[in-house]
Amino acid sequence: MNVRIMQAQDIVTVLGIEQSANQFPWDIKSFQDSLKTGYQAWVFYKKTEEIVGFAIVQRVLDEAHLLNICVKPAAQGRGLGKAIIQHVIDYANSISAVIILLEVRRSNERAQQLYLQSGFNEMSVRKGYYPAKEGREDAILMAMDLDLMSFFSQ
Ligand SMILES: CC(C)(COP(=O)(O)OP(=O)(O)OC[C@H]1O[C@@H](n2cnc3c(N)ncnc32)[C@H](O)[C@@H]1OP(=O)(O)O)[C@@H](O)C(=O)NCCC(=O)NCCS
Repeated sequence: MNVRIMQAQDIVTVLGIEQSANQFPWDIKSFQDSLKTGYQAWVFYKKTEEIVGFAIVQRVLDEAHLLNICVKPAAQGRGLGKAIIQHVIDYANSISAVIILLEVRRSNERAQQLYLQSGFNEMSVRKGYYPAKEGREDAILMAMDLDLMSFFSQ
């Protein structure tokens, strides 16, 4: 799998993947604003240039916030999610971030499994953070302490 910086012309494809993989997808403006604001955004693509996933990270001083990560449904379950997370970790280390933070829906067990396997821990719960089919849904706030990770990898 290859990676490059997300460009404005990728947004239509990225939006399609987002809509096909999420019940409550980001809208086009969220992607446009992310690029305008200068968030770190990548697309992951096959040899054929077909985009199969993406990730968007906001850098806040020495923190990296993973705002969105998505793999095209047809390409899920083959290790791409793990590879994208590793790319995000490498990026966070390259900017000397001390922590990576993210929010995930309580019902999204698949993503939570991926994060736990990758070294994230559950920090807290944000009550009713997301819109849901009926009412609201909690977010689990997860974090990876990069200082601790580098300590253990030495
Ligand atoms: C979450 C997501 C990025 C994972 O991508 P993926 O390419 O399917 O993930 P991987 O193939 O690398 O699998 C990584 C781990 O996820 C978990 N996982 C994958 N498929 C799963 C499934 N069907 N059920 C439960 N857990 C699953 C497993 O723990 C897996 O590790 P393992 O293969 O060693 O058991 C992808 O499912 C996705 O894009 N979902 C929609 C968008 C989304 O939910 N984004 C996260 C928002 S916080």
